[in-house]
Amino acid sequence: MKALVYHGPGERGWDSVADPAIIDPTDIVVRIDTSTICGTDLHILKGDVPETTAGTVLGHEAVGTVQEIGASVTTVKPGDRVLMSCVSSCGRCRYCKEGRYGQCLAGGGWIFGHLIDGLQAEFARVPFADNSVYKIPEGLSDEQVLFLADILPTSYEVGVLAGTVSPGDTVAIVGAGPIGLAAILTAQLYTPGRIVAIDMADSRLEGARRFGADTTINNSREDAVERVMELTGGLGADVAMEAVGVPQTFELATELIRPGGRVANIGVHGKPATLHLEKLWIRDVTVTTGLVDTFSIPQLMRLIASGRLDPSLFATHRFELGDTMSAYDTFADAANTNALKVVLCGPESTSKADAGRARATAAV
Ligand SMILES: NC(=O)c1ccc[n+]([C@@H]2O[C@H](COP(=O)([O-])OP(=O)(O)OC[C@H]3O[C@@H](n4cnc5c(N)ncnc54)[C@H](O)[C@@H]3O)[C@@H](O)[C@H]2O)c1
Ligand SMILES: [Zn+2]
Ligand SMILES: [Zn+2]
Repeated sequence: MKALVYHGPGERGWDSVADPAIIDPTDIVVRIDTSTICGTDLHILKGDVPETTAGTVLGHEAVGTVQEIGASVTTVKPGDRVLMSCVSSCGRCRYCKEGRYGQCLAGGGWIFGHLIDGLQAEFARVPFADNSVYKIPEGLSDEQVLFLADILPTSYEVGVLAGTVSPGDTVAIVGAGPIGLAAILTAQLYTPGRIVAIDMADSRLEGARRFGADTTINNSREDAVERVMELTGGLGADVAMEAVGVPQTFELATELIRPGGRVANIGVHGKPATLHLEKLWIRDVTVTTGLVDTFSIPQLMRLIASGRLDPSLFATHRFELGDTMSAYDTFADAANTNALKVVLCGPESTSKADAGRARATAAV
């Protein structure tokens, strides 16, 4: 089969590799119908994730069709359409039993395209299938559910739920990339009073408004703290989310918060950030961190099925799966291409229909 293979820092190829096969009885083999690329894949390509070794197939988000099942798999069968989560769960260890799948002690967690071969490929081996894939309800297209693999549950669990967004809240979100935008989208499930998006790129702030932000602040030329204080009568935001992953934006999120408020850090940090306890302790501020668990996939999938959550705006570009190399170029050049998520369509992908539907909606 063909797959996108990491060859060490800066090097990738669309290569012929061995077809995946069942290894453990809890495995399945899936034909990939629709896949996508994540900012984390770009980090791996830069060499920022040293545990990913050369020769690994990248990708941790996809929809596919079950081809073959291991001897102990009982909940899916060949022919079923399934969503693969970026996080796998053994279902049996202490953390998996608590729904904390990201911390799985038995070989689950974030493994696809990281520790084992991933999902930007024609086929994939999927471990712990009974606990790690989600059957797609009749009537939902690949693209409607694809972003449930990573960005939607990440922003919902680590941002909205950890920050306990409540009706009427002022929610400030620092960073309006796919993660910040998914936070804007899923925060609306809790009817906040106002969503404020903060980014240094005007194109990202335009996106934020399309996704439902009420106020946008470009912090390369405006003082974000001053603006948020003005908007909130001098108190600060009830919830501040960090969706970038650099010290400066974490520190900004802790300056935007009102006494008694919640700072939910979503960004992945490579460098230490300063926690100004000397200022925060007296203000009753809660700070949360987290790796996504994806326990919320079934809940978010029901919201998509009922039409209350529509992630279709994320899909800005579509490529044939065989053209994944160009898709990487487009995704990596988001400043010029305005790419949010690039959709990779295998021969059986329903995404061509999605593209048609998107055009029809745009025309209305
Ligand atoms: N916690 C988790 O489980 C989890 C899962 C997935 C991704 N993430 C992390 O979430 C973060 C965001 O991901 P993404 O894909 O949206 O990233 P992205 O790079 O596409 O977007 C980041 C945004 O931040 C903006 N930005 C950069 N510096 C800024 C600054 N100083 N002030 C304001 N805005 C600034 C950029 O313009 C961009 O729009 C990353 O750190 C990613 O690794 C975390
Ligand atoms: Zn990801
Ligand atoms: Zn486990």
